[in-house]
Amino acid sequence: MKVMITGANGMVARAAISHCESIGDEVIAFTHADLDISDREKVFRLFEECRPEIVLNCAAYTDVDGSEANEQTAYAANAAGPENLAAASKEFGSEFVTISTDYVFDGTKEGFYTQDDEPDPQSVYAKSKYDGELRATAANDSSIIVRSGWIYGKHGTNFLSVLPDLLKQGRELRTIGDAYGTPTFASDLAVRLRELTGKNASGIFHATNSGPGVSYFEFASDAAALLGRDPQLIKNISQNDLLRPAARPYNSRLKCDRSELFGLAPLRDWRNALAEFLDIVS
Ligand SMILES: NC(=O)c1ccc[n+]([C@@H]2O[C@H](COP(=O)([O-])OP(=O)(O)OC[C@H]3O[C@@H](n4cnc5c(N)ncnc54)[C@H](OP(=O)(O)O)[C@@H]3O)[C@@H](O)[C@H]2O)c1
Repeated sequence: MKVMITGANGMVARAAISHCESIGDEVIAFTHADLDISDREKVFRLFEECRPEIVLNCAAYTDVDGSEANEQTAYAANAAGPENLAAASKEFGSEFVTISTDYVFDGTKEGFYTQDDEPDPQSVYAKSKYDGELRATAANDSSIIVRSGWIYGKHGTNFLSVLPDLLKQGRELRTIGDAYGTPTFASDLAVRLRELTGKNASGIFHATNSGPGVSYFEFASDAAALLGRDPQLIKNISQNDLLRPAARPYNSRLKCDRSELFGLAPLRDWRNALAEFLDIVS
């Protein structure tokens, strides 16, 4: 299949490019420099030239704290961008998949969030991503919106992705013990994004690795144990101890049950995925 991937230098995009190439897709990958997805005219022009059968939108402005001061940039990439791609996909007959976030929820629920729970985003980043969901769906009701959370992987720059390096350096790490999420290996998410196509699926899906969900402290402690590092290096702090500009949910664990309706097994347990990631980066 001819697959267009946006945000091609990003963590999930790189995993998606690698997966799609491995299954024989013809991949057309656009970096931010090649295509700013908020540029509607250019989006439509490139669709006309490339005629993709599938579009995986991995582009986003992902700086959660930076979004507080750069609202326009966040909304351009995270809301107008998906809307433009969804509209172009409708016009040119492409299947459209875009990634959203567990941060659309406010975190006050006990237990796991499902697709039926009402979003209540608390930060500019989260609001812009939720707006992206709504605008993509309004532009093209065949859009597939995949919410994920706590994504880590090769080429990632977020805390979970750089954790192995920090542990190897023997650095003491302050990790949040009172915020819970469902970790997701970018390579597993990439497979799921592609698997959701060709099934006449649309609407909102949750996609994370399986398991009960963890805190950052538990995730880091498991990584330290798997790498044979001193567990004392992992310090348990509260989310409140970090004075960050953007609010984050205390609980953003996602339940992923809709994929099963389309014959897709749950993604593997997060501990197995973490072990593979640590192997790859060791
Ligand atoms: N990482 C997580 O834990 C997490 C959790 C939940 C959901 N998500 C979602 O997962 C998706 C992939 O995230 P990721 O972690 O792979 O992000 P990432 O590594 O930050 O990659 C995002 C890419 O998008 C590009 N980009 C930014 N604005 C753009 C625009 N206007 N047009 C085109 N490209 C643009 C960036 O390029 P520049 O850097 O050059 O600007 C970057 O290469 C995003 O939708 C994100 O919101 C991530």
